[in-house]
Amino acid sequence: MPKPPPLGVKISGTGRAVPDKILNNQYFVDRLDTTDAWIRERTGILERRVVSPGESTATLATAAARVALADAKMTPADIDAIIVATITPECSFPSTACFVQQALEAPQVPAFDIAAACSGFIYGLSIASYMIHSGVYRNVLLIGAETMSRITDYEDRNTCILFGDGAGAAILSATDGLDGPCILHHQLHAQGNGTSMLCVPAGGSRLPPSRMTIDERLHYVKMQGREVYKLAVKCNFDLVDSTIAEAGLDPDDLAIVIPHQSNLRIIESARERLKLPPERMFTNIQRYGNTSAASIPLGLDECRKTGRVKSGDTILLVAFGAGLTWGSALIRL
Ligand code: UT7
Repeated sequence: MPKPPPLGVKISGTGRAVPDKILNNQYFVDRLDTTDAWIRERTGILERRVVSPGESTATLATAAARVALADAKMTPADIDAIIVATITPECSFPSTACFVQQALEAPQVPAFDIAAACSGFIYGLSIASYMIHSGVYRNVLLIGAETMSRITDYEDRNTCILFGDGAGAAILSATDGLDGPCILHHQLHAQGNGTSMLCVPAGGSRLPPSRMTIDERLHYVKMQGREVYKLAVKCNFDLVDSTIAEAGLDPDDLAIVIPHQSNLRIIESARERLKLPPERMFTNIQRYGNTSAASIPLGLDECRKTGRVKSGDTILLVAFGAGLTWGSALIRL
């Protein structure tokens, strides 16, 4: 594939929203054959947020979008397109983005979802950036939002301890040149022979809800954890390494890496191989678990709002997830 050009696109605002309800590890210890120590040591997770009745992917997405709009000093009328990255949409169709558009009372601009699982926000960033690069769109609202708790099997100790709910949003805007804030480099990949490694087998056209036996529990997340783990460790390192090499940078040029939060050990392994100090590899999995497409925008907003990154910094976003899909975005803020 040809090397993608730098894109005159900047992040002009970010926001995040998580549900109030917290599930700590004790919740699982009380119900399953597991321990707080096992969950902490194998995943790094201490607690995760989950939605309550009345909340959904669109309510979280809308809340995050409102914060991002305020941060960018914009109103919904300033937005030229809405993209929601999610694998837990409001319903099969219409898109979650259309629900967000309605809730924001945004103008009749294009609104659509993309399903690239944990890599969804990176995929969305690339799509939104090319839309802006085309000159047709100036400001795109991109949201990564998930209610993983709605597809998690709370009787399966292999997976239920991992996932949480949340949403993060970014406003991407056209810039005048490539000297200031811009997308320096980006990569997207997929490998479809890994579809069964991490999936929800039922609920689509292969096994529709009308033919599903609830007892088989196929409407919940299934994961070959160990196999996915091994691929994620290799992929995380390779992505950081190849993205900065192709951009002509080295790890010291990065203010921070914001990886998808799948497992603290996966993140730590990449950090050690890259010889990055802990403060330059972002983690918040301890508090939120794995929030799929929401994890990177949650981290991005937290880094911006807590001063861990500042204007002029170069940051790297990397994700690996179901599909299998993976991708990266190197951004000068
Ligand atoms: O976000 C997209 C990408 N996702 C990922 O990258 C996640 C990748 N996978 C993982 O994070 C890890 O594989 C897990 C955290 C899911 C599992 O950790 P692991 O170190 O790979 O454990 P394992 O699956 O190899 O299982 C080891 C043992 C098994 O017992 P036996 O067969 O050795 O007796 C499991 O049954 O741990 C057992 N186990 C548990 N024990 C206590 C699995 N889950 C639990 C649990 N509590 N919750």
